[in-house]
Amino acid sequence: MEPYRIKAVEPIPFTTREQRERALARVHHNLFGLRADEVTIDLLTDSGTGALSAAQLAAGAAADESYAGSASFHRFHDVVRRLTGCPYVLPVHQGRAAERILFSALLEPGRITLSNTHFDTTRANVELLGGEARDLPCAAAGDLDSAEPFKGNIDLDRLAVALTGPDAARVALVVMTLTNNGGGGQPVSMDNLARAAALCRAHGVPLVLDAARFAENAWLVTRREPAWRGRSPRAAAEHAFGLADGCLMSAKKDGIAHIGGFLALRDPGLARRCEILLIATEGFSTYGGLAGRDLEMVAQGLTEATEPDYLRSREEAAGYLAGLVRAAGVDLVEPPGLHALYLNAGRLLPHVPPHRYPGHALACRLYTEGGIRSVELGSLYLGAEDEHGTPVRTAPYELLRLALPRRVYTQGHLDHVGRVLRDVAERAGSVGGYRIVEQPPVLRHFGARLAPVPV
Ligand code: F0G
Repeated sequence: MEPYRIKAVEPIPFTTREQRERALARVHHNLFGLRADEVTIDLLTDSGTGALSAAQLAAGAAADESYAGSASFHRFHDVVRRLTGCPYVLPVHQGRAAERILFSALLEPGRITLSNTHFDTTRANVELLGGEARDLPCAAAGDLDSAEPFKGNIDLDRLAVALTGPDAARVALVVMTLTNNGGGGQPVSMDNLARAAALCRAHGVPLVLDAARFAENAWLVTRREPAWRGRSPRAAAEHAFGLADGCLMSAKKDGIAHIGGFLALRDPGLARRCEILLIATEGFSTYGGLAGRDLEMVAQGLTEATEPDYLRSREEAAGYLAGLVRAAGVDLVEPPGLHALYLNAGRLLPHVPPHRYPGHALACRLYTEGGIRSVELGSLYLGAEDEHGTPVRTAPYELLRLALPRRVYTQGHLDHVGRVLRDVAERAGSVGGYRIVEQPPVLRHFGARLAPVPV
C-alpha cells in the first residue's frame, strides 16, 4: 500500500468522449496542446508533477526569502553536499539550466560528449554550443523484451574506444544518465558506473551524472545488483555520486518538487566559471532563479526521495500497472523501471507504419477513450521526413511512455488506465495513424499539427 495518507485533494476532470474528440481536433491532434482540465489521468510526465509532503509545505512556509545568503540556501546546500559529496552547489531553476551552464563552461564547437543516452534537452544543449553528443548504450538495451536488470548501462568497450581512438582529444566529458530516461527508464548498475568512472579517470575526462532520477536508480541497484542487496538506497545514491566529478540535477523528478535543480561540482575552478554564468543568467549564487521556499522544498524532497518505503511503493505501482499492461496484451520495455512504462506501440499496431506514428496513434486513442494523456517516444519524436512526406529517418522503436507522477495517483487510477488500455488493445486494428500537417523546425513533437489517416 501507499506509505502515506491523503490530507489535501484536488478534483480530477471527467469529460465525455465527445468533448475529448472535439478537444483533440481543436489542438490539431497534439496532446501537448490540451488544457490540463481536459485530461482525467495525466501521465505526460513525472517532472514537476509530484505531490508535496506536509513537511515540504511546512519547510516552504518557513523559508527565508533573502536575496543573498538566505538560511534556506544554506539548508539546501548542506543537504545537497551531504548527498553528493560535492562542496560546490549551484541552485538552478531546472535541470536544463544546469546543462546549459555546465556545457557553456566545458564545451567549444567540435567537442564531444559521451553518454549512456543523452536526454533530449541535454543533447540540445550540447548541440547548441556546437558540440557533438554521442550515445553509447549497452547492447542489452537493444532487446526491449529481455529481463536484463541494467539495460541503462553504458557500453564500456565502446567508451574505452572513444576515450583512446582518433577522436579522444575532442572528448570533453562523459554524462551518465540515471536512470536512463531516453533508454526506457532503465537503471545503470553500480558496477557499470564504477567502471565508467575508472575509464574517465584514467583518461582525464570528467564524469558527470545526470541525476534526475538518482534515488530510483539507487533503489533498483539495491534490488537488482547482488553486491548491493540489503543496503539502503541512500547509501547506494551517495556511493554513485561519489564516483563522479559532479552532477546535473532536475529536482522536478527525484527532488519531488514542482520546480528546481542544481549543479554540484568538486573542481573549484570549474565551479567558479559556472557561478559567473549562473549569476549572469539564472540569479545570484544563493538562489539561482528559485524562491527560498523552492530551495526548502527541494532540500526536504531530496531526503524523502531515498526513503525505502516510498521507493518500494513506487516500484510496486509501476509493477502493478505493468501487470495490467501485459494482461491487456500489450508489450512494454522489460523489466519496468519506476518513473514510467514504455509501451511497444509499434508491435501493437503493425498496420501503422513508423511515419504514421503508431506511438502517437495509441496516445490519441488512450485520450479519446479514457481521458489519459501520455507521450509518444518514436518517430514523431526522433524521425524525419523529406518535403514529400517520405521518411528519411525513423526511430529504432515506436514507443509510448506512461509516466507516473510521484505520490499523485492511487491504484484506482491505475486500474482505469489498465481498463482503457485493454479496451483499446482489443480493437487495435481500428486505430489509425497520423500525418504531420505542419511542424516547427526543431523539437517538432511539442508543436506539430497532425491529421488522422483512416485505417
Ligand atoms: N535529464 C533527464 C534525464 C530528464 O528526464 C530531464 C527532463 C532533464 C534532464 C531536464 O530537466 O525538465 O528540469 O529541465 N525530463 C522531463 C521528462 C521533461 O518528461 O522526462 P528539466
